[in-house]
Amino acid sequence: MLGIVILAAGQGTRMRSEVPKVLHPLCGRPMVFYALDAVSGLSDLPPVLVVGHGAEEVRRTVGEAVTYVEQREQLGTGHAVLQARPALEGRADEVLILYADMPLLTGETLRRVVDARRSARAALSILTVVAEDPRGFGRVVRQADGSVARIVEEADATEAERAIRELNAGVYACDAAWLWAHLPALPLSRKGEYYLTDLVEMAASEGQGVVAVATDDPTEALGINTRVHLAEAEALMRRRINRRWMEAGVTMIDPQTTYIEPTVTIGPDTVIWPTTILRGRTAVGRGCHLGPNALIADSVIGDRCRVLASVVEGAVMEEGSDVGPFSHLRPGAHLGPGAHVGNFGEVKNSSLGPGAKMGHFSYVGDTEVGAGANIGAGTVTCNFDGRRKHRTVIGEEAFIGSGTMLVAPVRVGRRAVIGAGSVVTHDIPDDTVAYGVPARERGRREDPDESHTETQRHREK
Ligand code: UD1
Ligand code: CA
Repeated sequence: MLGIVILAAGQGTRMRSEVPKVLHPLCGRPMVFYALDAVSGLSDLPPVLVVGHGAEEVRRTVGEAVTYVEQREQLGTGHAVLQARPALEGRADEVLILYADMPLLTGETLRRVVDARRSARAALSILTVVAEDPRGFGRVVRQADGSVARIVEEADATEAERAIRELNAGVYACDAAWLWAHLPALPLSRKGEYYLTDLVEMAASEGQGVVAVATDDPTEALGINTRVHLAEAEALMRRRINRRWMEAGVTMIDPQTTYIEPTVTIGPDTVIWPTTILRGRTAVGRGCHLGPNALIADSVIGDRCRVLASVVEGAVMEEGSDVGPFSHLRPGAHLGPGAHVGNFGEVKNSSLGPGAKMGHFSYVGDTEVGAGANIGAGTVTCNFDGRRKHRTVIGEEAFIGSGTMLVAPVRVGRRAVIGAGSVVTHDIPDDTVAYGVPARERGRREDPDESHTETQRHREK
């Protein structure tokens, strides 16, 4: 059985941050999850996550899917792996080791490192990368016969060694018995740490071949030590995510300015315009038009919806509904099929029924709007009395005149008509016309041909 150890105990000093390095987000997702994704499916044993710096925060973020071991003092990568011994010894006969600060690594590459060791029956295999920019990586020193002799950390390297461009990516597969026998014998480095990388010299000097596996894609080995590295990795990850969605049938007018977090899903034939950001648990249907300038987070967008220059968060938009430009759907907003929110609107914790319309600068909060209702320009639901929030109900096919204030709790009946500029302070019955400040009932609504109304049209569909 393959044991997996992921090192995440380091402080990440070079990030200059209060946040543990492995929790810094990449495309919105804490870095450590990419390592966990990459190892998923490689073994039936849960991965062992070595935590230390910010351990509590890391545990809270990652949850229960891994086995935690704590490295109380950060005495180096070799010391960190040793902490995993009680969790794995006797359970795993081979061990894959990687660092949690390499979010671009793929599962296929990890599998290649594991397979290479197995088929060579070697004690150790390592992943190497050839790159012009050495980024402070350990250098792979080879013997005259071409075999791997050791890894030298940049700080300890001679000038000649520093010139080496074959770098240690930081992925290792080991025979478990060999690993546990040799880890306690790692020498103390000049920095006062036990370097995992010194295993390489041990294996080589014992005449145990060390198998070096070269990366196909050097960007996979990008280890993140600074915020500059973080931004580089973010750009690469963004490109990877965008490519995947384009291959799945999504059009991106400008992938360079399209930001999609890895937790998002998008249906085919959706078109994404520039500077659009899709975050969190967002699911987008087919044939939508999103952006330009849209931010959509944790929302469900049905088929053929449109979001133009707007912010949609924690909201649901059903098929054919649209919002924008310059509007805000806040948590709990629910637009029914074909519902329309135009410019400068805000909807919070409210539903708009099928075909309901709210075209121009209105606020609707804690409200249920019936199908086909029309909310006139500048309508405000006055839902807050300074202490508590109250609900508003607007019936199907109601017509709210421009500039109406609906003082909640209040109910406007079905097909009721409210005249412009009214302040509605008490319930208005179905089919009545009301206006004034405060609004009073002034008669019945005459509506001879209902078949042309929105609700009717939706019912006929
Ligand atoms: C390490 C390698 C280097 C390699 C590079 C690739 C060593 C000694 N050096 O250097 O050869 O080229 O990665 O990215 O391994 N960690 C712990 N406990 C510790 C120290 C570190 O858990 O006591 C964890 C860190 O959280 C991090 C990982 O180990 O996830 C690597 O540590 P880091 O300090 O980033 O090593 P590098 O200097 O990048
Ligand atoms: Ca690193």
